[in-house]
Amino acid sequence: MLEQDIERIFFSAEEIDKRLEEMAGEINRDYAGKELMLISVLRGSFVFMADLTRKITLPCTVDFLAVSSYGKGTTSSGQVQITKDLSDDIEGKDILVVEDILDSGNTLSYLMKLLRARHPASIRLCTLLDKPERRVVPVEVDYVGFTIPDEFVVGYGLDYAEKYRNLPYIGILKPSVYQHA
Ligand code: IMP
Ligand code: MG
Repeated sequence: MLEQDIERIFFSAEEIDKRLEEMAGEINRDYAGKELMLISVLRGSFVFMADLTRKITLPCTVDFLAVSSYGKGTTSSGQVQITKDLSDDIEGKDILVVEDILDSGNTLSYLMKLLRARHPASIRLCTLLDKPERRVVPVEVDYVGFTIPDEFVVGYGLDYAEKYRNLPYIGILKPSVYQHA
């Protein structure tokens, strides 16, 4: 059972849902009268993206891209690579990048620069979680779900060694899980 590996729950499914209502409300107001293109950064943001998108009441399209991840470790290498690019052109569009967590900032500072160079009409960033204590590269962020301390979290799309993404809540793992890795 996955649940047995969890030491503590940070945010329950209900708390996440409530916060997403607020975030979507803000986005719906900010983009009123516009059409939005939501870009999910795979794989971590797929759950957040799916839930947030269903709370967006504006006309919108979705697209996905993937960047190289941490592999099995829990710290950033600083090396970022696009492993799967967008399917559509973003030129002239209002773009909202949807990410699971902002940590060192390496991934998003690289990604936002790359996407800006494709000349969208506007580009904003929405992250479910933010760990400001870990920032190495500054990143401007427009919508933040929760600010968290410097702890490695899993669940609700976030993984450790590709597992735990399917947990409906966000929590931290027992130290014994890392020792057996
Ligand atoms: P950054 O480039 O260091 O900001 O890292 C961003 C990426 O690292 C996120 O999109 C996640 O995939 C991963 N990451 C950072 N912190 C965590 C965490 O606490 N749990 C799971 N994945 C994390
Ligand atoms: Mg990610």
